[in-house]
Amino acid sequence: MALLPILRYPDPRLKKIAQPVVEIDERVRRLAADMAETMYEAPGIGLAATQVDVHLQLVVIDVSEDKSDLHVLLNPRIERTEGSHLGEEGCLSVPGIYEKVERAEKLTVHYLDLEGKKVSLLAEGLLAVCIQHEIDHLNGKVFVDHLSQLKQGRIRNKLAKQARVTA
Ligand code: NI
Repeated sequence: MALLPILRYPDPRLKKIAQPVVEIDERVRRLAADMAETMYEAPGIGLAATQVDVHLQLVVIDVSEDKSDLHVLLNPRIERTEGSHLGEEGCLSVPGIYEKVERAEKLTVHYLDLEGKKVSLLAEGLLAVCIQHEIDHLNGKVFVDHLSQLKQGRIRNKLAKQARVTA
């Protein structure tokens, strides 16, 4: 397994639209394992393939406290949503930035697991937020895209300053 470099907002590659996984081969299994390792190491609770510059519909999620509940979602589709919830989000591609985003409170997501089995998962709370956040990435969207233009500008300035300090 290997740690993968994570793209930083506003990298234009974060806007690419991910393609469906058509065959679950060794490359896909290795990508999922490397992404899980990268997510745990960061540490984070979710990572989309887009963020490691692979434009396939694959996300890894684990919202448990003890890294015991890894979900690997291939070709995820949200089928039903219910309610709404305003909660603070962050992103491994937007380090140090936390902002409130409105999301559905509950949802059903359909996806394939790594064995190619169809899974239907009813999610709520943090898991539901995380699923929506990661599927956004597959569609070329970062959580800050949900914010006002003014806030987006401030965030870009702050990240540019950080980059100058650490460069
Ligand atoms: Ni993210």
